[in-house]
Amino acid sequence: MPSLILGSHPLAAWSGRTLVIGVTGSDPATATASEELPKPTAKHLDQVLPLLEVSTKVGATTTLPAVPGLKADKVVLVGLGTDEGGSDVLRRAAGAAVRAAGKGSVALALPHADATELAAIAEGAVAGGYAFTEHKSAPATADDREITVFSSLDRKDAPKDVLATAETVARNVAWARDLVNTAPNLLFPQSFAEQVQQVAKASSGKLTVKVLDDKALVEGGFGGIVGVGQGSSRPPRIVTLSYTPRSKKVPHIALVGKGITFDSGGVCIKPSAGMLTMKSDMAGAAAVAATVVAAAELGLPVAVTGYLCLAENMPGDNAQRPGDVVTMRNGTTVEIIDTDAEGRMVLADGMALAAESGPDQILDVATLTGACVVALGPKIFGVMGNDDDLRTAITEASDRADEPSWPLPLPVDLRSGLDSFVADLAHKGDRWGGALTAGLFLQEFAKDAEGEPIPWAHLDIAGPSFNEGSPWGHVPKGGTGVAVGTMLEHIASLG
Ligand code: BES
Ligand code: MN
Ligand code: ZN
Repeated sequence: MPSLILGSHPLAAWSGRTLVIGVTGSDPATATASEELPKPTAKHLDQVLPLLEVSTKVGATTTLPAVPGLKADKVVLVGLGTDEGGSDVLRRAAGAAVRAAGKGSVALALPHADATELAAIAEGAVAGGYAFTEHKSAPATADDREITVFSSLDRKDAPKDVLATAETVARNVAWARDLVNTAPNLLFPQSFAEQVQQVAKASSGKLTVKVLDDKALVEGGFGGIVGVGQGSSRPPRIVTLSYTPRSKKVPHIALVGKGITFDSGGVCIKPSAGMLTMKSDMAGAAAVAATVVAAAELGLPVAVTGYLCLAENMPGDNAQRPGDVVTMRNGTTVEIIDTDAEGRMVLADGMALAAESGPDQILDVATLTGACVVALGPKIFGVMGNDDDLRTAITEASDRADEPSWPLPLPVDLRSGLDSFVADLAHKGDRWGGALTAGLFLQEFAKDAEGEPIPWAHLDIAGPSFNEGSPWGHVPKGGTGVAVGTMLEHIASLG
């Protein structure tokens, strides 16, 4: 993982490999940086930008060798749009620029108005440089280069602290991506749990972890996750990962993550085309783990408990059948309709467990439904919930994190679709509105022992958690780490 360091002025003296400068406007583009460019540099760029018809499209890059007035080997010009600005633009541009820079040292000298924009540049730079090489046979050289960020901020805005925070966030986002990208024969409930235990162990007491194994899950009455996991030779786990700040008088938030390490669909098996990316069906649990660790490292004044609901959904000889009835942790009986709707079953048990500790809020994060991808496309996640204020707080936090989301309703009229002829609940309703009925199912478990609702929001990240296309901006191919930024923004706003 690269480290972030604050550039010391002046820019002209920086003598590394790639210096990143912004371009904005149109016909011709004009260069823009965190500080005034040296005279010979500005003059040169004035000449070549129109000649090269340099694009100012957000994230478009143009590489120039040997630019007069600078010691850097080359300059990457990155588009900031026609009317420069916004942390989302800077985050994307920084990511694209670092990817275009390739190997060697990089410095970014992008213009920014405040600490938020500086953080976006720094996080975007690290995020854009991410690569997953774990499964390559050639020994990968770790990317431990320094990324220099030039800042125009005042001392009182503590640019150094901004970079330190950005580094913590980016490192944990990278961990979530690594977990998602790891092959599903190598990451399974037990190995996932062990990795989290190791991270907690290395946290020098900031984090505590508890693992419920398959035996404990049966004994504890977690019929949802036990049912999903019983078709696999690799049994399920629920991992509880907790961070408690020193001050005890703080809000308490519970984060519940869907951790299906592979979703074959079970006996309602998926067609092969839809199965290839299903190692990413644990992206919710990965995001939750990364968020709890980051919250602890940042020392946020909020108690955060993560519940990772880990299981493999396989069609083994003991697999669950449609028509089975299971009893959930909270006593509710559920009729299994389609074994491919497994996410809500593991989450419901996790939410019931979370509810037992009396949190102020519950968030669940899950690659839950293809229907949500149909509704919002591959780059926007859906937000549902039983509390309008909390749901709005989440979409606002997602805005600040530059992780796009949109609210979806939980229509009472669809609730009857979950009525079962034999059990308390059916776990799947009509095909239409599939993201919403999944949400309505989960809503039944966001309740305390008296049956009173606990403020809860549901983040369906099935679309943006895994990028099947090309990298763009700060988002790589494969696992994206989406929702870590949103959850951290939300948690920080509670403290
Ligand atoms: N993990 C899938 C949802 C999914 C689909 C995530 C595409 C990412 C990309 C989930 O477990 C699933 O299979 N959902 C079913 C639900 C249906 C059986 C009610 C779906 O979306 O088709
Ligand atoms: Mn499924
Ligand atoms: Zn799934």
